[in-house]
Amino acid sequence: MKVKVSMVVNGEKVERVVQPRMLLVDFIRRELRLTGTHVGCDTSSCGACAVLLNGRAVKSCTILAVQAEGKEIVTIEGLSKGGMHPIQKAFVEKQGLQCGYCTPGMIISSYQLLSSNPNPSEEEIRKALSGNLCRCTGYKTIIDSVKYASKLMRTEKRK
Ligand code: FES
Ligand code: FES
Repeated sequence: MKVKVSMVVNGEKVERVVQPRMLLVDFIRRELRLTGTHVGCDTSSCGACAVLLNGRAVKSCTILAVQAEGKEIVTIEGLSKGGMHPIQKAFVEKQGLQCGYCTPGMIISSYQLLSSNPNPSEEEIRKALSGNLCRCTGYKTIIDSVKYASKLMRTEKRK
C-alpha cells in the first residue's frame, strides 16, 4: 500500500505517492532529486542529513516522509536560492570543509543557531553543532566559519 504525501520544500509544494515507511531523507533525495542532503550513517548520529522542518534542524533520516505531511522543509538547496548564503560563503572563506560530505548538515545546523542567536559564543556554536560529525576538519575551521558567518549575516542583513 502506498500513501499520498504533500509538503512544501524550498518554497514549492510537492506531492508524491510513496511507501509509508519511506524516510524523509529518501523522499528528499530519491523522489525530489535534491541530493545536497547527504546520508552519512545508519545510526542517526552524523547529522549529514539535517534539514529544516518548520524552521527546526532535524535529522531527516530519523523521520518518515509521512510525518512531514503539510510541513515546511528547507534543504541546503533552499538556503542558496537567492545566491550563495552567507553561511556557505563563510565556510568557503574560512575553509570550513575538506571533502564536504558533512557540510550541508553543518550549514543547516548553523543556520538554525544563527536565526535565533545572531552572535553566538564559541561554546554555543559547539553545542549547536554537537549533532553533526566531521571526519576531516578537526572542527576548528568549522567553528571559525560559523563565527565569520554570524558577522556576514549581520552586515549583509540576510536571514
Ligand atoms: Fe542521518 Fe547520519 S544520515 S544522522
Ligand atoms: Fe569531510 Fe566534514 S569535511 S566530513
